[in-house]
Amino acid sequence: MALRSVGISAPAKVNLYLRVLHRRPDGFHELDTVFLAVSLHDELLVESGGAPGPVTLTLQGPDPCAVADNLAFRAAEAFRAASGIPHAISVHLEKRIPAGAGLGGGSSDAAAVLRALDHLHPGVVPRSELMAVGAALGSDVPFFLGESAMARGTGRGEVLRPLPPLPEAYVVLVLPPVHVATGPAFAALKRNESAVREALPAPPGSWEAVSEMATNDFEGVIAATHAEVAAALGALRDEGGRPALLSGSGAACFGVFPSLERATAVAGRLEERLGWPAPVVTTLGALPRPGSPGG
Ligand code: C5P
Repeated sequence: MALRSVGISAPAKVNLYLRVLHRRPDGFHELDTVFLAVSLHDELLVESGGAPGPVTLTLQGPDPCAVADNLAFRAAEAFRAASGIPHAISVHLEKRIPAGAGLGGGSSDAAAVLRALDHLHPGVVPRSELMAVGAALGSDVPFFLGESAMARGTGRGEVLRPLPPLPEAYVVLVLPPVHVATGPAFAALKRNESAVREALPAPPGSWEAVSEMATNDFEGVIAATHAEVAAALGALRDEGGRPALLSGSGAACFGVFPSLERATAVAGRLEERLGWPAPVVTTLGALPRPGSPGG
């Protein structure tokens, strides 16, 4: 087949609800969470076809990990292994989502690579296998590979049920200059938290309902060990974010506001008060597809 390329964007996510249940025999924790994609995104260009060749990754923007550990690179390698295609694959990644922030940037990049390669080599890897390849790369990858921009995740986070979309809202992300490693965050939680939690009461139908049930089990332990997170959460709550939460295991925090004017004013005050970036993003109604406008 001829060499072809496709562009795709890889959105960030926030967790509107995150309960950590028991630790499983495989070492992962059973979760109950609500993922929501937002407009902050990385951009990827994926090229494949033509002569046999290796997987290559070029990067623009900050990324602390080595190329071989980058999830976009590993996703391309995993697609090649699953499909058996001999063609060269080149991925160009423009990184905007901060790493170690709980925004799912690496997982979203991996899902975008898998979507793009599935688009360039249609049907070579069945959808169920593509999801399994994604889940093996990371617990959040299946959400980004899924059908819905808002979904409830159980199991490791990879068992997904789409949730009905909420009205578009404005999200102020606060990005403290600290990284939180997910594995140690789970380990710290295990020492501090009791084993069994109640499950999500009901699918949230409105932002008011989201605010009522919004919670994140990591908040106590991460805010206690990272003063920046405690400061970001306090500031977002002072400004009336509903909800205002840690995302994933942090360190990014976010607050939801009903209007762009209000969110922009809050972001300006928080940048001044805290001295860290506080971009305003919107909630997404659909996940980006390869080659779609903005995608
Ligand atoms: O799946 P992912 O690579 O994102 O997970 C990183 C680490 O976080 C895992 O190695 C595990 O220690 C922890 N984790 C967990 N339970 C989950 C997801 C992640 O314990 N559901």
